[in-house]
Amino acid sequence: MDPVEIREQFPLLSSHGVGRSVVYLDSAASSQKPAAVLDAMRSYYENDYANVHRGVYALAERSTEAYDNARRQVAAFFNVADLGEVIFVRNTTEAINLVAYSWGLANLGVGDVVVISEMEHHSNIVPWQIVCARTGSRLEFMRVDGSGRLVLEDLDRLLATGRVRLVATCHVSNVLGTVNPVETIVAKAHAHGALVLLDGAQGAPHLPVDLSALRADFYACSGHKMCGPMGSGMLFGRRALLEAMPPFLGGGDMIRQVTLRDSLWADLPAKFEAGTPSVADAVGFGAACEYLSGLGMQAIHQHELEITRYAWEQLLELPDIEIYGPPPEERGGVIAFNSGDVHAHDVASILDEDGIAIRAGHHCAQPLHERLGLAASARASFYVYNSRADVDRLVDSLRRVRSIFALPGA
Ligand SMILES: Cc1ncc(COP(=O)(O)O)c(C=O)c1O
Repeated sequence: MDPVEIREQFPLLSSHGVGRSVVYLDSAASSQKPAAVLDAMRSYYENDYANVHRGVYALAERSTEAYDNARRQVAAFFNVADLGEVIFVRNTTEAINLVAYSWGLANLGVGDVVVISEMEHHSNIVPWQIVCARTGSRLEFMRVDGSGRLVLEDLDRLLATGRVRLVATCHVSNVLGTVNPVETIVAKAHAHGALVLLDGAQGAPHLPVDLSALRADFYACSGHKMCGPMGSGMLFGRRALLEAMPPFLGGGDMIRQVTLRDSLWADLPAKFEAGTPSVADAVGFGAACEYLSGLGMQAIHQHELEITRYAWEQLLELPDIEIYGPPPEERGGVIAFNSGDVHAHDVASILDEDGIAIRAGHHCAQPLHERLGLAASARASFYVYNSRADVDRLVDSLRRVRSIFALPGA
């Protein structure tokens, strides 16, 4: 993979684009978009646009076919054979809320336990807090150890009580970069009759994900973090579970028949897609999946391992840098750090003056920052268009931060 060549495929970052001099290191928040995705969406609007499912005219049929084709592309990317198991949603947050409100409210009760971890994004914490409070079930936690790995003994201990109904955890941490042992977690949970929901927001864009092999019960991800448009995402759920779950939202498209008193639900996946769907976003999401498959997910992962290792080594050359999480070979392309006592927001602002876009704050993971004893961290995250030269500019700019704050070693 040649990230310099790939960068040219992203109009905003290309040598003609408005971001040609920007070092974009915030792909964990949202990735940039390749021309292939933008072209697919534009072509849909210019050639095939109409509402889906309802029309008998040719344009509506073409629009419906574009929507169905997007689902086939997304399903193929995740190796899911049954299209009814692929629900289009707006983002990971909506996917997790769908499971919490639909499956959770119907299946959880007093004495039941939902297990999450200390490293979750707020979108895999707050829905469970709400649903546990409503159902009288209890939220329990896997801790994070000093190297940023999940304490699996906590999971064993909790599963042994026989009360755990669901284990919901991230595939890859958006702060620590930790790639969690999700196969082991699925096997342990299933051995005790618990279901598993994986928050794949940081997994799907960066690692090969084969949902047939993984055997998780639910998998959630956001299209906008994997080269697709904002407003696109997926909830994968096993058919038997989705069929038994009540709808999350009611309205048009998700019904088979409506009377004034009651309704019958449509088959999957329509049952969970009420109202006019975001068809152009789905088309872009499908094109993004094709684009990533074309690059090869294994090659993307290798590239990120290599660049993360390089960044790790270069950053550690700077005195007073503290990096959170496991060593590079166990993480995705995310490095959260602090530079001495300089506040992460100051670091990000100075880097911005040098045209480097990183994120600063708690990255929607306040409990994890509390666990780490931090108010905030700076976070650089890498993707297919980032090169070693980007890392060099990051490190040079961090030297400038040190000199501005007159820290030793500048
Ligand atoms: C691990 C993780 N989970 C969930 C989310 C939420 O994603 P979205 O805002 O697209 O719903 C994010 C976003 O940063 C994330 O990193």
